[in-house]
Amino acid sequence: MIHCDAVLELSFVIAPVPRRLFGSFVEHMGRCVYGGVFDPSDPAADEDGFRRDVMELTRELGVSVVRYPGGNFVSGYDWRDGIGPIAERPARLDLAWRSVEPNTFGLDEFMRWSAAVDCEPMMAVNLGTRGIAEACELLEYTNHPSGTALSDLRRRHGTADPYGIKLWCLGNEMDGPWQTGHKSAEDYGKLAAETAKAMRQVDPSIELVACGSSNDRMPTFGQWEATVLDHTFDHVDYLSLHAYFQQFDHDQNAFLASAVAMDSFIDGIVATCDHIAAKRRSPKRMKLSFDEWNIWYESRFVGHTNLEWMTAPRLIEDTYTTLDAVVVGNLLMSLLRHSDRIDIACQAQLVNVIAPIRSEPGEPAWRQTIFHPFALTARHARGDVLRVEPRTPTIDAGARGEAPAVDVVATRDPGSGEYAVFAVNRHPDQNALLSLRMTSSPGLRVVEHVTLGGSDLLASNTSEHPDRVQPAIPDNRAVSAEGVLTAELPAVSWSMIRLAPEPS
Ligand code: AHR
Repeated sequence: MIHCDAVLELSFVIAPVPRRLFGSFVEHMGRCVYGGVFDPSDPAADEDGFRRDVMELTRELGVSVVRYPGGNFVSGYDWRDGIGPIAERPARLDLAWRSVEPNTFGLDEFMRWSAAVDCEPMMAVNLGTRGIAEACELLEYTNHPSGTALSDLRRRHGTADPYGIKLWCLGNEMDGPWQTGHKSAEDYGKLAAETAKAMRQVDPSIELVACGSSNDRMPTFGQWEATVLDHTFDHVDYLSLHAYFQQFDHDQNAFLASAVAMDSFIDGIVATCDHIAAKRRSPKRMKLSFDEWNIWYESRFVGHTNLEWMTAPRLIEDTYTTLDAVVVGNLLMSLLRHSDRIDIACQAQLVNVIAPIRSEPGEPAWRQTIFHPFALTARHARGDVLRVEPRTPTIDAGARGEAPAVDVVATRDPGSGEYAVFAVNRHPDQNALLSLRMTSSPGLRVVEHVTLGGSDLLASNTSEHPDRVQPAIPDNRAVSAEGVLTAELPAVSWSMIRLAPEPS
């Protein structure tokens, strides 16, 4: 058994929990839209063709924001192909995923679906093959009340009131050579700034996200952000971050330390943003939109150039394990820890494509292992995020060097006085005894303690066994006595412990 001590102190506030941290992503890719969100031929479909079971799980997951329609897809997309009478919509080649896009699901369907699941839409504009005019026209269609060609077109399509979409991404991963219309930082920075200025003329109330690097292994990483911000700093509200993690070479410890890598990735971007602010003598603190993150076994993907042209192919339908769920829980802790700068985060993607929800035709949709830490964190991380600095042994995290064995973050809801403690034990074979001294709220009792992991690390949920991996109440439930919370964290596990004030 290893030991880990920390202090839970209500004044150690990082920031309020941003609700938009629990976002997701629906891209026209593989079976995310067609066969996932939308499948009129499925018995679970409603009158709009939306799968009811996927909608129910989306609500249960606690998703607050959904980014749409891509991803790489957006860089070749003409949003006009996806509006108006469905029978008249054209099928097109989607170059990003070598797929045939039928366009039977488009903007208006997405807006109806996101209202039905109570999610805020986050729209991306095409800055790959299109530009300023097209972005402004899309915004006119969605946000202008009436009296113009495009706002009246929306009204004719059945939506009298403007959608009022607030969040807009200025393109997607424009630094990537795989992106249709890939650009240099200089060219993208100028285009993003001009598009931002024009879009704000259409609707000054929007919030804009400029593209950061596609990942921190890009050769232009760091310099890309600095150059793009040199152009866009005064015109955008957020810079985007993307990161996907996977286990390489059976290096489980390095994989378990993915959140350590995420922490330093975010810290590097914050430093770059603040460097540009300092150069400009600006008090502005650029906010971050981590609008693609997840585990993705990218090394198993054949690559988009090797695909056959077809509609809704099975692409990157990764099946997740218990171990993946532990890592996802920890990545969410990293996001919470950076809630002073990260305002938006979207797990990529929502259904079928590297997703917490899976569906098959004619069968009930099911929860992958990674569904659980997301749903529990989205539900119970309320109020303020509290910094917890555990004194912990380290583990040898292989390719990632030394990493703390135990990671802890907490939230406190000032209204109810309830705390949620999220903890991960990365140690490969030793349980950890966590002692949290509750300095400011000694009279707390444990109201819930659930754990994922500790055993069966390679188990997963399938259509036949949808509930094989679920959060479990441990035999050794955490106890709170004399102002100290004591919890045993199994080796390789994620836990959530909720505490409430003793009734007076
Ligand atoms: O989420 C899958 C893809 O990953 C997205 O289309 C792209 O933005 C990223 O590279």
